[in-house]
Amino acid sequence: MLNALKPQPADKILQLIGQFRADPRNDKIDLGVGVYKDATGLTPVMRAVKAAEYRLWQSQMTKSYTGLAGEPEFNSAMAAMILGPSPDNGRIASVATPGGTGAIRQAFELIRMAAPDATVWVSDPTWPNHTSILNYLGMKQRTYRYFDTESRGVDFAGLISDLAGAKAGDVVLLHGCCHNPTGANLTLPEWDEVAALLEKTGAIPLIDLAYQGFGDGLEEDAGGTRLIVARLPEVLIAASCSKNFGIYRERTGVLMTLSDPSLREVSQANLAFLNRQNYSFPPDHGARVVTTILMDEALKADWKAELEAIRNGMLSLRAQLAQELRNLSGSDRFGFIAQHRGMFSRLGATPEQVERLRAEHGIYMVGDSRLNIAGLNVKTVPILARAILAVGI
Ligand code: LMR
Repeated sequence: MLNALKPQPADKILQLIGQFRADPRNDKIDLGVGVYKDATGLTPVMRAVKAAEYRLWQSQMTKSYTGLAGEPEFNSAMAAMILGPSPDNGRIASVATPGGTGAIRQAFELIRMAAPDATVWVSDPTWPNHTSILNYLGMKQRTYRYFDTESRGVDFAGLISDLAGAKAGDVVLLHGCCHNPTGANLTLPEWDEVAALLEKTGAIPLIDLAYQGFGDGLEEDAGGTRLIVARLPEVLIAASCSKNFGIYRERTGVLMTLSDPSLREVSQANLAFLNRQNYSFPPDHGARVVTTILMDEALKADWKAELEAIRNGMLSLRAQLAQELRNLSGSDRFGFIAQHRGMFSRLGATPEQVERLRAEHGIYMVGDSRLNIAGLNVKTVPILARAILAVGI
């Protein structure tokens, strides 16, 4: 049987991890996979996470199964973090999932169960695993224009014109904030226009919220999602705690549906069913850590302070890199780096230039020229700036 298996294409983001490790150069710089790193190159365990784990270690008396949909407290704490302090619980069905990818996968499967013929519209470009999972599930997908390669901002006219072609019942996948891979984001008035278009077409938004707190702030980053939820009858939200709580390997995420209250129960039953089919109970440790933090005022304040420090650190690296490139190039053509938000920016370089950065300068980024800002520090920013110009970007 196993001899019938075909080789699988390597994941382009994860492949970089191995390539980087195998590179013997001491001065190599990893701007590949989307993992936050501090100035010393460490991905720290956040203070509030350590404290919550300590409390759990002291108080937890059993590792028996938890709820099939995850603990209700986790689901409601996440709803409050994403939707604001008093979400409309009558509309929300919610399950804990293994990370944001688990939430995305469950969302696609839920869509397939409810509407097997629906087309899922993804931004061009999007996180490659979105398209990979859709392909794997045999679902229809189309792209909508998103990135303006000249300005390195959002091609909003292209987006609106393409999404006008979505049909009622199609699904439009939107990045809630910190667009991956470009770093270019919608403004609130643009979210408003997208909401109006979705109202008109009857297409259903699926929001991937993987970086809340990494862009303009914890509340601000949920602004587009909240606006969509307030205006549209049906919304799916897949959220991750990997980045904002720094608990990547704990696989902590949530999938929420918002609907008419009459559909809440059947939505909840289907979400729980999907969990049972795919892995039974979702992972619990990370979810419990997150709940402990979000339900304790002191831990929550400390977590927010550390998250803000991380966010501001990335913003200042962006400003430094844009300034350095301004000084060296004598032009403002890299100003977009300071405008982008989140961990990523797409430089707009060719694959050959990206390869030269790797081969000649030991600088690793994804082939589409997505760089992880958090992989930099004040010393490596000037090195990157010089290399960017040296390869002719
Ligand atoms: C990324 O885009 O680098 C992250 O979301 C990590 C991943 O799983 O690809």
